[in-house]
Amino acid sequence: MAARRPIIAGNWKMHKTPEEAKELVTAIAAGMAGKSFGCEVVVAPPFTSITSAVAAAAGTPIGVAGQNVYWEDEGAFTGEISGGMLKSAGCSFVIIGHSERRQYFGETNETVRRRIEAAVRWNLVPIFCLGETLEEREAGETFNVIRSELTEGLRGVRPDDPLRFVIAYEPVWAIGTGRTASPEQAQEVHAFLRREIGGLLGEGFAERMRILYGGSVKASNAKALMACEDIDGGLVGGASLNAEDFLGIIREGS
Ligand code: PGA
Repeated sequence: MAARRPIIAGNWKMHKTPEEAKELVTAIAAGMAGKSFGCEVVVAPPFTSITSAVAAAAGTPIGVAGQNVYWEDEGAFTGEISGGMLKSAGCSFVIIGHSERRQYFGETNETVRRRIEAAVRWNLVPIFCLGETLEEREAGETFNVIRSELTEGLRGVRPDDPLRFVIAYEPVWAIGTGRTASPEQAQEVHAFLRREIGGLLGEGFAERMRILYGGSVKASNAKALMACEDIDGGLVGGASLNAEDFLGIIREGS
């Protein structure tokens, strides 16, 4: 089996001014200094704090992600950000299709697909988020929902480098609720996702790409989740806003 290097990514959502971003990245970098971790570390600040996070991350192993990307390169698209803009600001990753985007901002599988396509074109690593709601899980629809989010989000998109394409399984009922999927529940979906990706992009691709788990990840539950065969890291919201909490997860996830 291919050894996959885990990724611990912090999704800051709508938190942290440029000054606060600098402080947080500096504190994370200080906590990582002189130690070698087995995982990649990424932070996703809001757009206005990207350049300050990138400056603070210079010379450290911390990568920076955008929280969204638009599919056009420039033009009259008020409120949107292009792949080229993220790239030139110093991002190497971008979160796409987060459930908050889907739930509050009308994001659909089709807009997600177009954003993934743009990320791949700009050589940004997409962190493609998908996951079922509580109602869908209780109705026994989890695998159908995940399959359609995956296949529709990837329709016509052909990433060719498995190391530069990341999926995050984020059960909506576990996001910001303190309620985490059990390692067994998460592993079951991750294994399903890997099989499905194998069918879409080839087994070799599926074996090497990273699938992150997201939803109330904390230092106290990270180890058990990351120990699962198909869980290759975490997308962390609340616990990524504080350096000590995030460093705890980095340690457990390595
Ligand atoms: P949470 O958020 O860790 O606060 O549950 C995760 C996410 O939304 O990516």
